[in-house]
Amino acid sequence: MRRKIVAGNWKMNTTPAEGAELAKAVAAGKKEICDCVNFIVCPPYTHLSEVVRITRGTGVAVGAQDCATEEKGAFTGEVSARMIASLGVEYVILGHSERRQYYGETSETLNRKMRQAYANGLTPIYCVGEKLEEREDGRHFDVVKAQLEEVIYHLTPEQFERLIVAYEPVWAIGTGKTATADQAQEMHAHIRRTLAAKFGAAAEQTPILYGGSCKPSNAGELFAKEDVDGGLIGGAALEADSFLQIGKAFLK
Ligand code: PGA
Repeated sequence: MRRKIVAGNWKMNTTPAEGAELAKAVAAGKKEICDCVNFIVCPPYTHLSEVVRITRGTGVAVGAQDCATEEKGAFTGEVSARMIASLGVEYVILGHSERRQYYGETSETLNRKMRQAYANGLTPIYCVGEKLEEREDGRHFDVVKAQLEEVIYHLTPEQFERLIVAYEPVWAIGTGKTATADQAQEMHAHIRRTLAAKFGAAAEQTPILYGGSCKPSNAGELFAKEDVDGGLIGGAALEADSFLQIGKAFLK
C-alpha cells in the first residue's frame, strides 16, 4: 500500500501569526481524521520554526517550499537545506513550476537542490508538469518524462525510496481549471512507468500527488484513481476547513 498524502503549499501567503493560526487549526482537525492520511504543511521560511513547534506530536509534518543549491557561504538571500532540516522540517518542495518559470530553475539547478535536500535528510516533493501549449501540441508526456529523467534518474536507489513526486499541469495551477480524473490518472501512470524503467519495482511505492486547483469538490474523484496517491494543494490549503476536507476525501 502506498502512502496517502495531502500536502499544503502556502506559497507566499500569510503572516507568521496567520500561519500559526492556520497550522493550529489543521493540527486540531487532523486529530479527527484517520492516521492513514499523511498531512504536510509547507509554509514560507519565516514561519517554519513556529509551525514545527505547533505541529509537533500532532501527526502533521512540515515542509519548506524550496532550498538553496549550495551548502553554505556567500549566497545572499538563500536558505540552505541544512538550516531547514535543523528546525525539524522533514520535506522540501523542489521544481515547482513557479520556481521553474519565474526564477529560471532548470534540471541542472534542481539536481543541486536535490543533492542538498538528501544530504540533509529532507524528503523532496519533486514537481513536474507541462504547460498548456505543450499539452495542446501533444508533447505533455515527453515533457514530463524529460523532467523525471534529467533529475530523478540521477538518484541512488536509496534516495529514490524516499522520493515523493507531484504532477502539476501548469495550466491547472491557480486557474480553477482542474485536470479531469482520467487525465490525471493517465499522466500518473506514465510517471510511474518512467520511474519503473529506471528503478524497477520500487516505483510501485512512490507516492505521486496531483496538484492544480484541487479542492474538496474534486479531490474524491481524483484520489479514487489507482495512481493518484494524494494532492499538493495551493489555494485550498489556505483555509484549514477546505484542506482538511481534501484529506477526508480519501475516506469516502
Ligand atoms: P493550486 O496550486 O491548488 O492553487 O492550483 C497548486 C500548487 O501550485 O501547488
